[in-house]
Amino acid sequence: MNARTDTPQTAPASAPAAPTAPAAPAQAEPPAAAELPAPAPTSPVPVTADPDRSGPDHQQFVDWLRMVAPYIHAFRGKTFVIAFAGELVKSGVLNALVNDVALLHAMGMQIVLVHGSRPQVEEQLALRHVESQFVDGVRVTDNAALECAKEAAGELRLDIEAAFSQGLPNTPMAGAQLSVISGNFVTARPVGIVNGTDYQHTGLVRKIDAESVRMSLSHGKVVLLSPLGFSPTGQAFNLSMEDVASATATALKADKLIFITEVPGVPDPVGKMMQEMSLRTAVERLQNNHLPPDVANYLQHLVKALKGGVPRAHLIPYSLDGAVLLELFLHDGVGTMLSDTDLESLREATLDDVGGIVQLIAPLEQDGTLVPRGRHLIERDIGNFSVIEHDGVLFGCAALYDYPRENMGEMACLTVSPEAQGTGDGERLLKRIERRARALGLERLFVLTTRTEHWFLKRGFVHANVDDLPEDKRKLYNWQRKSMVLMKKL
Ligand SMILES: CC(C)(COP(=O)(O)OP(=O)(O)OC[C@H]1O[C@@H](n2cnc3c(N)ncnc32)[C@H](O)[C@@H]1OP(=O)(O)O)[C@@H](O)C(=O)NCCC(=O)NCCS
Repeated sequence: MNARTDTPQTAPASAPAAPTAPAAPAQAEPPAAAELPAPAPTSPVPVTADPDRSGPDHQQFVDWLRMVAPYIHAFRGKTFVIAFAGELVKSGVLNALVNDVALLHAMGMQIVLVHGSRPQVEEQLALRHVESQFVDGVRVTDNAALECAKEAAGELRLDIEAAFSQGLPNTPMAGAQLSVISGNFVTARPVGIVNGTDYQHTGLVRKIDAESVRMSLSHGKVVLLSPLGFSPTGQAFNLSMEDVASATATALKADKLIFITEVPGVPDPVGKMMQEMSLRTAVERLQNNHLPPDVANYLQHLVKALKGGVPRAHLIPYSLDGAVLLELFLHDGVGTMLSDTDLESLREATLDDVGGIVQLIAPLEQDGTLVPRGRHLIERDIGNFSVIEHDGVLFGCAALYDYPRENMGEMACLTVSPEAQGTGDGERLLKRIERRARALGLERLFVLTTRTEHWFLKRGFVHANVDDLPEDKRKLYNWQRKSMVLMKKL
């Protein structure tokens, strides 16, 4: 998403709209030093940039590239398990995904791909006029269905390998030179007989050969896994892509597990897509059992991976072109990101916190960073504050003041104690205030700042004028302090 807590500290608040793809560089290779002509005498005509080859598009492109740079640095060398539903291939967007994966690989990320095959297995079954049986949403894989699963996986592997082998000039794959490795990395066991149903060749992951996968990754390969596994007796089992992916991410201690599916993300209780979700909330939502079954299915595997030590897990839609890039390189992402961060320490303030807040902001009031507000005002407005607490000590706070007439909110008093700065607490407080503002139906959040302009700009705020402030705030604006007005659309 994601500021989402996995946003690199230097990351842009939100990358501007990507400019249209630049054409391949028009200039020829520079000549070797020996071929260089002697320097020409200084021209009396001043050399200026060619107006046809400069302009706002160029600047936008440079700005955009610079803004994604922190993410590239942060993700280099990291291991991502990316699982995609068979529906993605069926809908004809495999090449686009492969292009994006090749780009991630070129940026230094280690990628394991896991493909699904549900619609392809269905197609094979239909060709053979065989009907498959499902119990509790799980396929019972008889001999015919197993043959279909093998056939489907084989074809998909070939299609995926072919897509990775493209390299036509003027395509995103030009010069990619990427090799894909598959193998018997997944050991499976049968589901067995459950509640009287014999699931036959339907299996579960028993073990992932993490060492071999890691070795392939370290040699610069993309590892491709199918939803099939083998038992030590040599039997094949039909597995789910979700099971293979979450078991692989856990076994590899991957940095991210990403599901690209027909489901766009996890909706909140009123149906709005959640950008971010804590492990605890995810577990609660699964227990409450109010989620659509397909969302619940993906979510339970993401939760399993998080419990297994994977720090971040994402659910994103394949229907959005470039979804994986947008999720990784945009501040807010496009799907839902689950994180194992213990969010318990971030909470709304109570009257017991007044003393801690006073202590926290006192040095900043003294040096003029914050406007002094006095204990009585904090006491009066305590309900507006959110705080971060570790072991009973407050390390950060921020307050939200709403202006319902203008549908605007002000974030005030944002403070993180010096010993905790630089670990993302400021960002978490901002997110919390944004969430509170959205819950109040506010459309814009503003801050008045004298010294923290860049921190806010990186997090999606833009410059605004005093005239843009709500009327009541405008009347109180201190012209001597000359605070900058920064605003963010929620
Ligand atoms: C601004 C503040 C809340 C950020 O909290 P934080 O927990 O350190 O924030 P994060 O960890 O999410 O972000 C840290 C990044 O912000 C940068 N940053 C911190 N203060 C900054 C500032 N004044 N201007 C620009 N960037 C700043 C850090 O250098 C760090 O960047 P890096 O990762 O490239 O090193 C904290 O520095 C603070 O309390 N400052 C003093 C009070 C203040 O200025 N409040 C704002 C009043 S409007």
